Amino acid sequence: MLGSESCDRVVLAGRDEALTEVEDLLRHRRLVTVTGPGGIGKSALAGALARRPGLGPDAVVARTDLAPLIDPGLVPHWLARALGMDGPAGKPQLAALTEALGDTPALLVVDTCEHLATRCTEVLTALVDACPRLHVLATSRTPLRTPGLYPLSPVPLDVAAELFTEYARQLDAEEPPPDTVRRICALLDGLPLAVRIAADRLAHRSAADVLSSLTRAEAALDLPATAPGLPTRQRSLRDSLDWSLRLCTAEERLLWARLSVFPGSFELAQVLEICGDAALPPGPLVAAFTGLAWQSLIEPQPDDNEGTAFRMPRTTRAYGRQRLSLSGEERELLNRFLAWTLRAS
Ligand SMILES: Nc1ncnc2c1ncn2[C@@H]1O[C@H](COP(=O)(O)OP(=O)(O)O)[C@@H](O)[C@H]1O
Ligand SMILES: [Mg+2]
Repeated sequence: MLGSESCDRVVLAGRDEALTEVEDLLRHRRLVTVTGPGGIGKSALAGALARRPGLGPDAVVARTDLAPLIDPGLVPHWLARALGMDGPAGKPQLAALTEALGDTPALLVVDTCEHLATRCTEVLTALVDACPRLHVLATSRTPLRTPGLYPLSPVPLDVAAELFTEYARQLDAEEPPPDTVRRICALLDGLPLAVRIAADRLAHRSAADVLSSLTRAEAALDLPATAPGLPTRQRSLRDSLDWSLRLCTAEERLLWARLSVFPGSFELAQVLEICGDAALPPGPLVAAFTGLAWQSLIEPQPDDNEGTAFRMPRTTRAYGRQRLSLSGEERELLNRFLAWTLRAS
C-alpha cells in the first residue's frame, strides 16, 4: 500500500519515515532545508508536511515557490506576500515582516531556493532568529547553510514500482506487468519525477515499449511530462537538468561532461587522472567535484564502505555525455579512460 499523505492525485509514496524525521528536525531546529536532486520529491514532501497540523490549529501556514524569482533582493517581498503580511511601502520588507510576524506560530514553506541560496540563507536565518515561533522549511537542490539539513534519498524500487502502477491506473491504462514495471523503475534511479514521466507514456504505448525505449538512457531525457500542473523546469528530465546546469560553474559543467565517460562508480584519484588537464587543473577539479556532490549531481556509491566512491545517476550521465560529445572532446576522454583501464588491470 502507498502511504497516506495526499500528493496531487497520487498519495505520497514511501515517505512516512522522512515526514516524521523532517517534522522532528523542524520542531527542534526551526529552520530546515530538504535537499536532493531535481524531481526526487522535495516539494511533494514539503507540501505533505504543510498539510499536517504539526504546529497546532492556530498556526499560520504559508507556502511559496521562488522558482520564478530572479532578483535576490526581492526574497523578503515574496515571503511577505506568501504570508499575507506585505509591509508598508518604503519600509525595508524584512524588518516589516519580522514585526508583522512577531511571535505568531507559523510554518513557512519556501520551495526552490537553489538559485538564490545565499540570500535565502540570510533572510530565513534572520527571520527565524527574530520570530521565536516561526518554523521554516526550505527546499533546495543545493543545501542551504541552515541549522537543519535533510538530504532526501531516492524512493526504493518497490515504492517506485507502486508509484508507476498507480499512475498507470489513473490513466486507465492496461495494468502493466509487475516484472516490466520493476525493470522500468530500475532504470530510473528511484526518481519520482522520472517514474511519473515514464508512466505517462502508457497513454500511448505498452509497458514493454516504454521499457525498450528506456534502455537507451538518452531517450529518457526528452520524454515529455504530460501530467498537468508540473512547472516548466519539470516538463522533461532534460528541462530539470538544464535548470541544474545553469547553477553550475564553468568547471562543474566541464567536469559533469567529462565524468560521463565512467560507466560505473569513480573515485577522486581516478577522476584527477582521467578528467584533469590544463583546462581543469587539480585545484579547480577538486572544487568542481565537491560542487557536483553538493548539488546532488553525483552521489556516494551506496554499497561503498570506504565512502570514497561516487556515481552519477543514469540520466544525469546521459545528459553529460551529450554535452561531452558536443564539446568535441569525447574521443580524447574515452582514450584517456581506456588507457587508465589498461594500466589499472
Ligand atoms: N513520494 C512520492 N510519491 C508520489 N509522487 C511523488 C513523490 N515524490 C515526488 N512525487 C511526484 O514527482 C514529481 C516531482 O516531485 P517534486 O516534489 O516536484 O520534486 P523536487 O521538488 O524534488 O524537484 C511531482 O509530480 C511529485 O508529485
Ligand atoms: Mg521542488
